[in-house]
Amino acid sequence: MTQSDDKQPTDTIELIEVCQSNWRDLTGIEVAESQKAFVAEPCYYLAMCCYGQLWSPLAISLDGRIIGMMMWAVDPDDRSCWLGGIMIDRNSQCRGLGERAVRQAIGMLSRIHSHRRFALSYSPDNHRARRLYQRIGFVETGEMEGDEIVARLDVSSTPDVGTP
Ligand SMILES: CC(C)(COP(=O)(O)OP(=O)(O)OC[C@H]1O[C@@H](n2cnc3c(N)ncnc32)[C@H](O)[C@@H]1OP(=O)(O)O)[C@@H](O)C(=O)NCCC(=O)NCCS
Repeated sequence: MTQSDDKQPTDTIELIEVCQSNWRDLTGIEVAESQKAFVAEPCYYLAMCCYGQLWSPLAISLDGRIIGMMMWAVDPDDRSCWLGGIMIDRNSQCRGLGERAVRQAIGMLSRIHSHRRFALSYSPDNHRARRLYQRIGFVETGEMEGDEIVARLDVSSTPDVGTP
């Protein structure tokens, strides 16, 4: 093997389409036991994307290996682009990958789909997710989505937010 064949990890995060060849990898994503109350199983989210006619899934890949997922959808009522089902596999957490993936999603969705207003929601007990979204610039509005706190972000006023 030559030196150029020897692939070193580059820590490259990519958001990739979920397709026939990778959907099984998403079903293997696992969060920590203490985090299970905050999200549904990946299979549930994939079924929701397939049949619910609203959400679209994205796989989060690190150096070509799927380590997480998220979904996005435009709410016909508030016209905001909602992010949901955000999860990073327990073995890849606390390395800044969740933050980079969310920033990248916002960058991609604002560039390609021209979305400006983003929204998401989280359990009041989900302190890690709350801190992560606040670091990116999401602001709590006082709204609730069921039992979850809603936070919003307008990229027109925070243009650098999609820069990983
Ligand atoms: C929320 C979640 C997506 C965050 O993913 P993540 O990749 O761990 O996120 P980050 O690494 O960017 O940030 C997590 C923590 O690691 C810290 N961190 C970032 N880079 C780090 C590094 N190189 N070394 C050590 N810690 C680091 C961050 O500062 C942050 O610290 P904090 O919890 O004290 O605020 C992940 O915890 C998860 O999947 N949780 C379960 C599902 C869930 O709750 N989803 C959200 C639903 S709303």
